[in-house]
Amino acid sequence: MNAIDTILAHKSVREFSDRPVEDDVLEKILKAACNGSTMGGLQLFSIIVTKDKEMMKKMAPFHFNQPIATSAPLILTFCADFHRFDCYCEMSGVATDAYHNAQAYQWAVTDAIIAAQNACVAAESLGLGLCWLGTITYNVPQFIDAFQLPEHVVPVACIPMGYPLHETSLTPKLPWQTLVHQEVYHQSSETELRTAYEAMEKAPHNIAAVNENGTGCLAGDYVNRRYKKEDNEFFSNVLKEQLKRQGF
Ligand SMILES: Cc1cc2nc3c(=O)[nH]c(=O)nc-3n(C[C@H](O)[C@H](O)[C@H](O)COP(=O)(O)O)c2cc1C
Repeated sequence: MNAIDTILAHKSVREFSDRPVEDDVLEKILKAACNGSTMGGLQLFSIIVTKDKEMMKKMAPFHFNQPIATSAPLILTFCADFHRFDCYCEMSGVATDAYHNAQAYQWAVTDAIIAAQNACVAAESLGLGLCWLGTITYNVPQFIDAFQLPEHVVPVACIPMGYPLHETSLTPKLPWQTLVHQEVYHQSSETELRTAYEAMEKAPHNIAAVNENGTGCLAGDYVNRRYKKEDNEFFSNVLKEQLKRQGF
């Protein structure tokens, strides 16, 4: 498959076979991850490879015990990382307080996410399946401690991967045209938006969720059940504190 076919075939995989990810396969994925575009050529990210089941079990509660956090043969965690460059500057006798700010954090997050998505495309092109875990950005302090991250390193993406246990189908998405604007932003009409969200609203897992949760509609299910204001505000405060703790 070429890159576009691989990307268009993407679907999250949450159940894996017992087949381990071979070392040479992992190496290809990591090399692909490390070869993306990067701010100033600085490669402001680090990748933590987790294969040890004890380590996975230790971190499972921080992923709210999502089964994939322990069942995957391999987890890659991508961190925004200015620490390496700090050390390089220090050993060169150059002060680095230029990067103790949100601007630097934004660069490092961008680099880490580019690396993460490159790893995903590489992994899927080699027959692996994967699923991002957003919980890495919820329980940031616990992950910082578990991974022993130094100052100026913050985890931003976590991706369990392995060989899929079975075939899964594509997840309904908005039509690509809804996301693309020609020259200036096009404000969608209500009719356009209703049509655009139809495939998501009709997806069996979304219908089941709305019914089970009694949330009335898909928008209500997202806002009042899946990603609630009080949770988002709580974890926003945790994140802000951790960014200060890590020196950004
Ligand atoms: C930042 C981010 C966080 C995510 N967190 C989770 C998660 O914690 N658990 C999970 O099962 N899926 C998670 N996903 C996967 C999404 O649910 C999935 O990508 C989305 O529903 C689209 O489906 P697809 O990947 O099959 O196309 C996450 C995806 C992203 C990009």
